[in-house]
Order: sequence, then C-alpha cells, then structure tokens
Amino acid sequence: MKRAEELAGHLAYFSELGVAGVSRDRAWRVRPADAYAEAAAKPSPAGDPEPAPARTPAPAVAGQPLEISMFDQVAVPEAATAADRLRLIREELGDCTRCGLHAGRKTLVYGVGSPDAQLMFVGEAPGRDEDLQGIPFVGRAGQLLTRIIESIDLRREDVYIANVIKCRPPGNRNPTPEEVRTCEPFLFAQVDAIRPRVIVALGTFAARTLLRTDDPISRLRGRVFDYRGAQLVPTFHPAFLLRSPDRKRDVWEDMKKIRAMLRAG
Ligand code: URA
Repeated sequence: MKRAEELAGHLAYFSELGVAGVSRDRAWRVRPADAYAEAAAKPSPAGDPEPAPARTPAPAVAGQPLEISMFDQVAVPEAATAADRLRLIREELGDCTRCGLHAGRKTLVYGVGSPDAQLMFVGEAPGRDEDLQGIPFVGRAGQLLTRIIESIDLRREDVYIANVIKCRPPGNRNPTPEEVRTCEPFLFAQVDAIRPRVIVALGTFAARTLLRTDDPISRLRGRVFDYRGAQLVPTFHPAFLLRSPDRKRDVWEDMKKIRAMLRAG
C-alpha cells in the first residue's frame, strides 16, 4: 500500500512538471544519486552526454580573460574544503551594507545546500519568505524548485542553491544594475568555492548576470555554456512556471539533460 502511495505521489509531481509519459530508455532506470558514484568510477566518455546540444561559449570560459568590472573580484579564500571556503566568503559578506537593499532586509540570504554539490542552482533574489527565513527558494516557487530537483532523484541537500542578489528588493522589484554589480562578486566566489560540475541559471536575470549577455531566457534556454569550469544550463525560473505551467515540459527536458551530464562524469 505504501509503495502504491509513493508511486502515486511520484506520478503526481511528474504530471505537475508536465511529463506526460515514461520511457523504456535505460537512463530512466538509474537513480542520479547512484549516478554520482557511477560517474566517479567510470572514465568519462568522449563527447557530450546528449546528442549535440548547441554550445555557445560564454565570455567567462576557463582559461580565457573574463570581462571584469571594478567590483568583480572577491578573492576566493585558500581553504582545504569547499565548506571552509564558503564560510570564509560568508564572513567577508558580514552584515553587508554595500548597497541600499540592506536597509529593507530582515535576513541576508546567502545560500543553502551541500558545499560539495556537483549541481548548483542560481536564482534572482530572495522574496518575502526567503527574507523571513534566511534560506533561498522556500516560498511557492521554491517548493516547485524542490520538486524539480527531486524529479531527477536528488534532494535539496545534494545540491547548492543561491541567488545573484542576497537581500530582498523592496516589493520584489527587479534588482538595479548597481545592486547586481555590488552583489555578484559574492556569487562568483561561491561558484569558485564549490566548483560544481553543472550550474542551472534560473530565469532571465540569473542567466544574463552569469553569462554577461542581454539575451532573454527564451533565446538562452536549450543551450549549454562553458562557465567557470562548469557547464551552465539556463532554464525557466520556477516563478515563471507557476504562471506558465505549459513550459514545465521544457524544464523537464533540461533536467533530463542535466541528469545525463552528471552521469557522464
Ligand atoms: N526567487 C528567486 O529568484 N530566489 C529565491 O530565493 C526565491 C524566489
């Protein structure tokens, strides 16, 4: 009985993600949690895990010069573990007053999850619930993000979740370019501290900030970018999916691609 209930629960959230059927493909039968271990044990296959996703190199390709604004660099602390590096970056942020957003915030929302995550999600900025709890993606959009993560058999604790902006903009307005310039170096430092294999940029705002482009998410989605030693996958923001559920299918396609990348090692 319990199994049947679990199965019904799984089918309900797959259906909510817009997945209409299942496949006999072996990829559907391997759990990504096991796939992390599988990937570590296997030599990496040549080429892409999925047939030819278009690749557009982002300005920030490892080994090539970055477009660096005067605010760009927060030195990533030399520390043995990612957890220590993240802790030192958080200390550097301190009780931040670098931009005006500090005046209206209740809590600075730094990031949550595993410092050793292979998969990192980047959103825009905290909303009301996040500001109150100090944790990214805990409101309605966050609950959908949790189900999206679970759709590839990972848990929130397995991944790392952060935002471009660490403090809630009043009334959830869009962050200003100045606020982005001030805050983004801390996100870049978090990426460099964690060194994830795959980064998911959630929505236009995160994708534009990370990739330094003016393209909208509709142009960026479906492509994979080399980014700071990781592969970056832009996809729709969960808040957008709440308004446009018909696009959940696209996010499911992206999540399958990400699962294959993580398995490919
Ligand atoms: N939207 C975001 O972009 N980030 C959050 O943390 C919550 C909602």
